[in-house]
Amino acid sequence: MTGKEDQIMAKSIVIITGAYSGIGMEFDLQIDAHLRKTDEIWLIARNRQKLKTLASQLRNNVRVLAMDITVGAQIDRLRDLLEEEHCRIRMLVNSAGYGVIGDVAQLTIQEQLGMVQLNCEALTAVTRCCLPFMSRNSRIIQMASSAAFVAQPGFAVYAASKAYVDSFSLALREELKEREIYVTSVCPGPVDTPFFDTAEKHGSTLSVKKLTMVSAEQVVQKALRDACHKRARSVCSLPIQAFEGACKVLPHTLIAAVIRMIYG
Ligand SMILES: NC(=O)c1ccc[n+]([C@@H]2O[C@H](COP(=O)([O-])OP(=O)(O)OC[C@H]3O[C@@H](n4cnc5c(N)ncnc54)[C@H](OP(=O)(O)O)[C@@H]3O)[C@@H](O)[C@H]2O)c1
Repeated sequence: MTGKEDQIMAKSIVIITGAYSGIGMEFDLQIDAHLRKTDEIWLIARNRQKLKTLASQLRNNVRVLAMDITVGAQIDRLRDLLEEEHCRIRMLVNSAGYGVIGDVAQLTIQEQLGMVQLNCEALTAVTRCCLPFMSRNSRIIQMASSAAFVAQPGFAVYAASKAYVDSFSLALREELKEREIYVTSVCPGPVDTPFFDTAEKHGSTLSVKKLTMVSAEQVVQKALRDACHKRARSVCSLPIQAFEGACKVLPHTLIAAVIRMIYG
């Protein structure tokens, strides 16, 4: 097949993980409303029925992929589908992720490893799986968090997992510049989503942080704008931008001690 024929046959798609809920669902809605010249939006989460209901509300063609992306065989399935359908990915949004608040000694090993598996390993696997199918001028949006800026006692593994996402995204961005693929790491503070149903299952320690809570709509609007402008990081809201600035100048030992003092 010639390069030209390949271009003609390729299906232009957007992939969104964590698509059913919260920030991921807001990406579905805004991308569905604004992105032109896309053949299909592929929505990934574990619950097929919920994804189907959501898909019926979108105006673009939608492919529902009920997958647990922490399972290697499901990543293989995604790669096979991308190959079989000659896909060209215009945008990949990695939004699937979770956090559980609590000291390392209090949370179970599985709760902590689960965060690493989904937030770090699965995000890396999905990204790597998609790279061969990404075209010039495409975008990768990675959901990190303001928790990536500094170590957070009481939320240690989650913050470390998001520091991984932010660091991985920045490095990948440089690696992919030659291919004109642009990576944006999205680092919001607290966002009003069902995330907290899981995060606070052992009790809330976030009351002060929640004063800076923003909507998923605000986060996604800014993330899509920043990705469009090829920005490395997207940080929504002034308080979180100020926190990012403080983390650049103050010693992290001091910030971690203050966080411990405030949240106990
Ligand atoms: N909300 C916040 O305050 C906040 C702040 C900063 C960053 N973030 C980050 O933003 C991202 C989205 O968070 P959110 O607030 O939208 O959380 P959310 O409402 O809990 O949504 C999480 C999504 O991930 C999917 N998911 C979970 N485990 C999965 C798995 N193993 N395989 C595939 N999909 C899976 C869930 O669907 P199923 O359960 O159906 O699979 C759901 O669609 C996360 O990475 C989070 O860390 C959130």
